[in-house]
Amino acid sequence: MQRFFILFNQIYRMKKLYIETYGCQMNVADSEVVASILSEDYTISEIKEADLILLNTCSVRDNAELRIRKRLRELGALKKRKLGLQIGLLGCMAERIKEKLLKEEAALDFIAGPDAYRELPQLIEEASGGQIAFNVELSKTETYDDIDPVRYDTNGLSAFISIMRGCNNFCSYCVVPYTRGRERSREPQSILNEANILIENGFKDITLLGQNVNSYQWNEDGILLNFAGLIEKVALLSPLVRVRFATSHPKDISDELIETIAQYDNICSYIHLPFQAGSNNMLKKMNRSYTREYYLERIKTIRRIIPDCAITTDIIAGFCGETETDHQETLALMKEVGFDAAYMFKYSVREGTMAQKHFADDVPEEVKSRRLEEIIALQQELSLRSNKADIGKEFEVLVEGASKRSKEHHFGRTSQNKVVIFPKMNSGKGDYVRVKITDCTAATLKGKII
Ligand code: 5AD
Ligand code: SF4
Repeated sequence: MQRFFILFNQIYRMKKLYIETYGCQMNVADSEVVASILSEDYTISEIKEADLILLNTCSVRDNAELRIRKRLRELGALKKRKLGLQIGLLGCMAERIKEKLLKEEAALDFIAGPDAYRELPQLIEEASGGQIAFNVELSKTETYDDIDPVRYDTNGLSAFISIMRGCNNFCSYCVVPYTRGRERSREPQSILNEANILIENGFKDITLLGQNVNSYQWNEDGILLNFAGLIEKVALLSPLVRVRFATSHPKDISDELIETIAQYDNICSYIHLPFQAGSNNMLKKMNRSYTREYYLERIKTIRRIIPDCAITTDIIAGFCGETETDHQETLALMKEVGFDAAYMFKYSVREGTMAQKHFADDVPEEVKSRRLEEIIALQQELSLRSNKADIGKEFEVLVEGASKRSKEHHFGRTSQNKVVIFPKMNSGKGDYVRVKITDCTAATLKGKII
């Protein structure tokens, strides 16, 4: 009885936390780390009940930041109605704009950069006492390796494990090396421990995350563990658990890694390999450190070693000095590879980057928009073509749950990360089923269990 009261008191006294996450998958993983760091004092709740609202932000493009600024004004209005509500801003935007943000945004109580999350309890306390509270110091070593993330927004099957942080590539358009700092890998045993906890809790689809996972490196007693070695160790934990990774730089996608993916059934046949631009001129200006020919050679090698591999990419339209011929080379490369899906963006100048300092953002807005539209329209065709090519084929599908559109259907994912909708039959969430594809749109496959 006494224990019950202690527990009740603990839960009753817990404050309520709401986290809103913007941008990439790394931020989703970081928000889970933050929930864990604050778990002694806060439980995750709906925004209505929250005593503390955290925005985990992204600075990679200007429109992401504008959205967050707008959100801060809405939250400022909420704060006026709710006494004691605290609002904190985390992530890349905190790092980029630093304490200036506290002056510009009246709604904010404190800010914390991506390497300062262990300091959050102190920052919250300082802010409660009316002090200006911020920590935007970057670290050369922080990987949050001992923290077991709180999986608070989960389907119970898919989870991320952050295996490295930061980036050393300095692509000329990108703010990430400045907001997330230098590249550092996480100690492998802590990654395997986290994977084991997920497996024990029934998770079946693990994505190893980092800004550039395939440059993962851990050196212990003179023995070097690279990304191919690490993913193999994770895959060996359980043959029933799928392993994915994101995101990769073409310069590091080695034959060894491709062969490791091919060797293990549970390492997914899916590689996200951003090419950004199709012309050597643009690639050089972007400081991508590879050529169009090199990229196409890597794709050929992937297709030779993993014939059923899905390949997706990131593309930027309208980078500094991009000519119509450069743009045509992007479209031609897309056709030549036949990407299964792509994330496509208009170039957005980021302060402090090499491109902002050295090149003019000289492609007119309407030309950028038109080029992006052409890229999107072409990708739509390529995605449809890729899905149509799957009709008649059979895939192993991990059932994720009921389809939103129909109660009689389940949806799940193939190893290639394509979504499939199919009549439930007697399948259940978390099962692997074999599905024959009968129809498709550009976005989804449809099929039946065989
Ligand atoms: N403008 C537009 N897109 C960008 N990306 C990164 N920086 C910029 C920028 N300044 C895109 C790249 C990257 C993805 C995460 O975001 O395509 O791969
Ligand atoms: Fe940015 Fe390039 Fe690093 Fe990706 S690899 S995060 S695009 S600098």
